[in-house]
Amino acid sequence: MPVGGDRYDPRPMSDIKRVGVVGSGLMGSGIAEVCARAGLDVVVREVDAGAAEAGQKRLTTSLDRGVRSGKLTDEARDEAIGHVVFTTDLGELADRQLVVEAVVEEETAKVDVFRALDEIVTDPEAILASNTSSIPIMKLGIATSRPEQVIGIHFFNPVPVLRLVELVTSLLTSPDTIAAADGFATGVLGKKVIRSQDRAGFVVNALLIPYILSAIRMMESGFATADDIDIGMVEGCNHPMGPLHLADLIGLDTTQAVAVSLYDEFKEPLYAPPPMLSRMVEAGLLGRKSGRGFFDYASR
Ligand SMILES: NC(=O)c1ccc[n+]([C@@H]2O[C@H](COP(=O)([O-])OP(=O)(O)OC[C@H]3O[C@@H](n4cnc5c(N)ncnc54)[C@H](O)[C@@H]3O)[C@@H](O)[C@H]2O)c1
Repeated sequence: MPVGGDRYDPRPMSDIKRVGVVGSGLMGSGIAEVCARAGLDVVVREVDAGAAEAGQKRLTTSLDRGVRSGKLTDEARDEAIGHVVFTTDLGELADRQLVVEAVVEEETAKVDVFRALDEIVTDPEAILASNTSSIPIMKLGIATSRPEQVIGIHFFNPVPVLRLVELVTSLLTSPDTIAAADGFATGVLGKKVIRSQDRAGFVVNALLIPYILSAIRMMESGFATADDIDIGMVEGCNHPMGPLHLADLIGLDTTQAVAVSLYDEFKEPLYAPPPMLSRMVEAGLLGRKSGRGFFDYASR
C-alpha cells in the first residue's frame, strides 16, 4: 500500500461540499468562516450552548470586519452566515465529507473526538482532519478504523488572513486523501500548501516556538522588557509583530501545549516551556483571548 510520503497528483478542484468543524474557538471559527465564504455547507460542533454562541459571535465579528475593510459586501457576509449551522450535537456531522477538528491542544481530547467521529461519520470516503499544531497525526489516525483517511490540515491564525496551510501526513495517510485535502485547501479555499512529515510542531511551529520561548526567557531573566523585545524584532527585523505579542495572539495555553509536545518529542531544552509561561497559563493569563497576557487587551 502506498504511504503518506509517496507521490500523489494534487487535484486543483475538490468535490467536497459538506464540511464539519469541531470546536469554534479562535481557529475553529476561522476555519468555519473560510469554508462558508467559499460557499460550502458548514456544521460547527461545540461543547455547550455558551461556547457555540461565543464561536458564532467570533465568526460574525470577523465577517463584519471584512465588510468594514471593504473585502466583503453585506450580501457576501449574510450569505456566509447562512452557510453555517452551530450545534452541540456531534451526530449532526454524520453526513460530512470532510471534518476538521479544532478542539483544545490536548491529546486525550482529540483522540476522543476522532474515536467519536469514526463512529458517527457515515461517508466511507470522508476525510477526518486535525488542525493540531503538534500532536502526531498517527495518534489520531489509529484512534479510528480509517487511518488512511486521517490527515493534518494545519491552518494559521487568523485563518481568513493567513494563506498558509501545512498538510501533515502520517505513515498511513493515503495518496488519495492527500490529493483531496490539497485540492480542497488550494482549489476551494485558495490557500498555499506546504507538506510536512508527522513530527511534533511540523515545519512552522518547530521553528517558531523556540523563538517565542527564547523571547519569554529573555524577559523572565530581566535581560530586556517585553516592549523592547517586541520593538526590537518589529523595527530591527521588519516582523509584523514581536514574539510576545505573537504568543498573546496564539494563546499562551496553546503556546505552552505546543512547547510541551515539542519537548516530549525531541527532548531538546530549547523546546521546554519556561516557568514564566507555565505560571501565566495557571493564572489564566492566556493572551488576547482572556484579555491579558504579556500585554493588556482588556481596555482595547
Ligand atoms: N491559536 C493558534 O494560533 C493556532 C494556530 C494553528 C493551530 N492551532 C490549533 O488549533 C486547535 C484549536 O486552537 P484554538 O486556538 O482555536 O483554541 P481555543 O481554546 O480558542 O478553542 C478551542 C475550542 O474547542 C472547544 N472544544 C473543546 N473540546 C471540544 C469538543 N470535544 N467538541 C467541540 N468543541 C470542543 C472549546 O470549547 C473551545 O471553544 C488546537 O489544536 C491548536 O493547537 C491554534
